[in-house]
Amino acid sequence: MKKLILILFVSTLVSEAALAASFEPAWGRDGMLVTSVGPAAWAGQQVLENGGNAIDAAIATAFAAAVAHPFSSGVGGGMFAVVHSAADGTSTSLDARETAPAGATAEFYTKNPGSIRSGARSVAVPGMVQGAWALHQKYGSMPWEKLLEPAIKMASEGVRVEIWHHNVVKRVAERLKDFPETRRIQTVDGMAPPLGWNHVQPELAESLRWIQKKGGKALAVGPIAAKIAKATGNAVTELDLARYEVKWREPIRGSYRDYEIVSMPPPSSGGILLVQMLNILSRYDLSAMNHGSSEYVHLLASTMKMAFEDRAGILGDSDFYDVPVEKLISMAYADQQAARFDPRGQVKARSDHAQVPDDDGTTHISVIDKHGNAIAITQTINTLFGSKITVPGTGIVLNNEMDDFSIGPELANSWGATGSTANMVAPGKRPLSSMTPTLVLQDGKPVMVIGSPMGTLIISAVLQTLINVIDFDFDAQRAVNAPRFHHQWKPDRLTIEPEFPVEVRERLQSLGYELREFSIIGAAELAVFDPDACMFWGGADGRRDSRTGAVNTSPVPRPSETVQCVGTSRNTAEAVPD
Ligand code: GLY
Repeated sequence: MKKLILILFVSTLVSEAALAASFEPAWGRDGMLVTSVGPAAWAGQQVLENGGNAIDAAIATAFAAAVAHPFSSGVGGGMFAVVHSAADGTSTSLDARETAPAGATAEFYTKNPGSIRSGARSVAVPGMVQGAWALHQKYGSMPWEKLLEPAIKMASEGVRVEIWHHNVVKRVAERLKDFPETRRIQTVDGMAPPLGWNHVQPELAESLRWIQKKGGKALAVGPIAAKIAKATGNAVTELDLARYEVKWREPIRGSYRDYEIVSMPPPSSGGILLVQMLNILSRYDLSAMNHGSSEYVHLLASTMKMAFEDRAGILGDSDFYDVPVEKLISMAYADQQAARFDPRGQVKARSDHAQVPDDDGTTHISVIDKHGNAIAITQTINTLFGSKITVPGTGIVLNNEMDDFSIGPELANSWGATGSTANMVAPGKRPLSSMTPTLVLQDGKPVMVIGSPMGTLIISAVLQTLINVIDFDFDAQRAVNAPRFHHQWKPDRLTIEPEFPVEVRERLQSLGYELREFSIIGAAELAVFDPDACMFWGGADGRRDSRTGAVNTSPVPRPSETVQCVGTSRNTAEAVPD
């Protein structure tokens, strides 16, 4: 008993050591974790402090996130990861995206468009558990069982409800009335749990114990698989679950200024759009512009419009549709696109190719460790509480990822995004995503890890945050805090955060933009390794309940002392940002 009390006390201390977003970057001498799910940060921070690597930490945080923010991601959803291994110096990406069941047809959804948003037919075959398992098999250094422990503890003992959690459930509580199991577990008498409420999820704790015991196939075969099939009326069958496979994919690679960009390939649109936009912007000296000026916003928004036009027209699952990846990320294509930019007006639509949400069921985790391993995981159940179905007896919320497919050129999904045949529903196909887990390397070593939740807004949030560091030399926190904007071609309007001054708005309107104010454009979670200072910096995005988990296990050096640092030796005395 005494021992148990000591463990709980240590856990509480550790959990409070994870820091909420602020004006200054978090700092660490031995590693950095940043996540949009604040209450889950301690899980990975503890793993790093106990000698686990970045991948172990990300896996522990991903499961803890499933418990802390069950409305945003979880074992009933999917994930993408981009990983760099210090051992062999290689980077790769993992696709554990949800997949259309064998019985899914485009025709069904065209005739029943409402069914793609929520309920049984909105559910795609989940991949998160197999994804986490695959990452662990390839890169893990701590026992799998240990990585599940923080999540199990949080589900069985409870998580304190914070403002973000309360507000999210308040926003969707009414929509849960037709989903009694989700309503029972996630609300208090049909209403949002009050601030400070201890949210306990015993059925989810049992499911996590099962996953802890059975590993990657825990949802593929056995009692949970049978329950998922039953809960979806066999829209997702036991055979669909048994056949699900993760895919290791060659990442999208690009370069920007002196940095290498490594990001997620299809079925995500994120990596292609990010590299495409950076290629165009590399033709301009952004640092000579005033950050946030109308001139700056117009250039970036025009670049976004062109990239999102391609997203709507020709992007989808490359296993099913021939996406011209090499062309889209080439410099020759960037030249063609840059020529379309008009400093005095709007980019015109192209003749050869054929929209902002109030929901978000996605989370992000960025981790970099003292050995030089790095991982960006973005995971999702699509919109808040996904399909809204909780599998009875398991506490598992099922995704509505089918809604990321396009079901007609003029039929926008929950993110307002339209698409083409490239992203039409087909059995076994993976819906087009905007998730952009990204690593930035310098001299072959990871120096930044970034990603964001929030559908199509993700890509714009990642782009602007990277530019803030690379072109404007902002520190990690300032880069994340700076006001953002977003344009996704259709609908044809520029979404801006409230901080943009009236003169900038008026000038943008005179350039032909219809403006829409939106309080939150993504939640960029940025972990930085600064090889010159030999320090890790973290920027957690205060637009959400984000936190950093900084690692400081080595002794504080004297100012004159030289420390050993990821293959180099540096003096840390000048490390503090202005
Ligand atoms: N479900 C959001 C995305 O994958 O982009």
